[in-house]
Order: sequence, then structure tokens, then C-alpha cells
Amino acid sequence: MYVCLCNAISDKAIRNVVRRHQVHSFGELRKIIPVGNECGKCIRHAKAVISEENMSVAVDQVA
Ligand code: FES
Repeated sequence: MYVCLCNAISDKAIRNVVRRHQVHSFGELRKIIPVGNECGKCIRHAKAVISEENMSVAVDQVA
């Protein structure tokens, strides 16, 4: 599912970046992929995906 329609960035793409680059904030994500740099409507959703993925990474590390 697309999170950022302006740049055609999916939640899967964001999750991959979070895992590969150990991203913990929207600012860090933005340095790697151009999410939220046009209309900005996706920023809240992108932040939620970052949080979700970081929780998932933490669970994976405990398991
Ligand atoms: S939807 Fe992401 S900048 Fe417009």
C-alpha cells in the first residue's frame, strides 16, 4: 500500500529502509528516501509505519 502518493513510496519500502538503516525518526527516513517532500499528507502515516516497524524489530530481537 502506498504511503506517499506523491513519490510512490509504499509502506513496504519504508519498512525496508527502517530495518536496513536502523531508522528511528521521520527525519532520518527523509535523508534516505524522499517521503513527505511534496504535499506532506503522508507524514503522519509514515511516522506510524516507522514506529510499527521499530516495535516489530524489537520483538524479533527478543524472540
Ligand atoms: S503524499 Fe507524500 S508528499 Fe504527498
